[in-house]
Amino acid sequence: MLDSKLFPVCDGTLCCEGVSLEKLADKYGTPLFVVSRNSLVNQYEAFEKAFSGLDHFTFYSVKANFNLHVIRTLAERGCGCDVNSGGELYRALQAGVKPERIIMAGVGKTADDIEYGIRSGVLMLKAESSSELCVIDEIAGRLGVRASVGIRINPNVMAETHPYINTGDSKEKFGIDEADLDNVFAMIHTMEHVELTGLDMHIGSQIFDTEFYQAATEKLLDVLTAARTAGFAIRYFDVGGGFPVAYEPQRPATPIEHFADKLVPLLEKTDATILFEPGRFITANSAVLLTKVLYKKRNHAGKEFVIVDAGMTELIRPALYQSYHEIVAVHQHDSVMVADIVGPVCESGDFFARERTVDRVEEGELLAILSAGAYASVMSNNYNGRLRPAEVMVDGDEARLIRKRDTFEQLVQNEVL
Ligand code: LLP
Repeated sequence: MLDSKLFPVCDGTLCCEGVSLEKLADKYGTPLFVVSRNSLVNQYEAFEKAFSGLDHFTFYSVKANFNLHVIRTLAERGCGCDVNSGGELYRALQAGVKPERIIMAGVGKTADDIEYGIRSGVLMLKAESSSELCVIDEIAGRLGVRASVGIRINPNVMAETHPYINTGDSKEKFGIDEADLDNVFAMIHTMEHVELTGLDMHIGSQIFDTEFYQAATEKLLDVLTAARTAGFAIRYFDVGGGFPVAYEPQRPATPIEHFADKLVPLLEKTDATILFEPGRFITANSAVLLTKVLYKKRNHAGKEFVIVDAGMTELIRPALYQSYHEIVAVHQHDSVMVADIVGPVCESGDFFARERTVDRVEEGELLAILSAGAYASVMSNNYNGRLRPAEVMVDGDEARLIRKRDTFEQLVQNEVL
């Protein structure tokens, strides 16, 4: 849900901070992502405040929104970055993040990704299999260094969330199985170029119940004891991300302080620096996707369709996870209607809402699709020859373009004629 102080209604029109969304649509066109800079800052600060009693460091998970300005806004406040590939590492470095403030994850990092991470001097590479540890050892040996490595454990905790974003269960591909840990520890002892500095987990995303974190943290604490007993000087204890946000007014998110209340007493026992990797919590409600109503039509059964100029190519979450996003008219209305809000892509799954009560908008009007700051623009694509949208960041009364809209030329630029 939007913070109404950062997305206020002024003169009957929705604004982002001090700037009217209508003016932004006029200037930059639609579909358009509009990000509130102060929302990013507030969320980061709220997270830091909740865990302020703890020796910790926060690494924003850039996969949620990797725009360079988003990364930079957070990095300027001291936040680090969690990256999942060479490409995300490149982005973080381009945004000016120092390598010692970057940790590198990924269940399938290539040798090139690993070499790039080691050469860049990231704080920690997180390994997810014995085979990957061997590749890290070999590459670090060739480069003549000892790589700082954390191992991601699969704690076998099945958190309640959408099955596609549940990662801490042993049925999923992530992390090293608990049963393999003794072998993995023995193997690392034989490796000259791997220094085991951290333990890591990430149980999933959009998790409301603090119990799952507690259960997984308790398991990771057992692994910490085992690792130290095996002679490893573990400095980092990484509990991942996954902290929830509200998308629907009827489903408020568990406050971040509740997670802190539950976890801090456990984490204080580690005698290690605690690492966090929030993504969605920081960016989800910082942005809206502005879209224009192209056409309205009604079928023989009286069903209304509102066809807008944004589609699953810009926000795939409803199609992929059946996610709910609030949709409001930019100009306030007195009357409502029940309609399907759908995009222009030739797939029946291309919808933002079905049978939704929305403002009775007319053709040419603007709608704002809310909570579009995480896993929206980063998952956008050119399917159907669509141009990925422009992005604007608002800070008070000022708006700046932070990503240009794709062009037709870009659609074919990598093809070899
Ligand atoms: N750390 C790791 C290792 C991760 O895999 C993820 C997310 C995060 C941190 C950040 O999780 P967050 O705090 O944002 O929940 N596209 C899906 C979400 C995929 C999450 C992938 N991993 C969605 O739109 O819901």
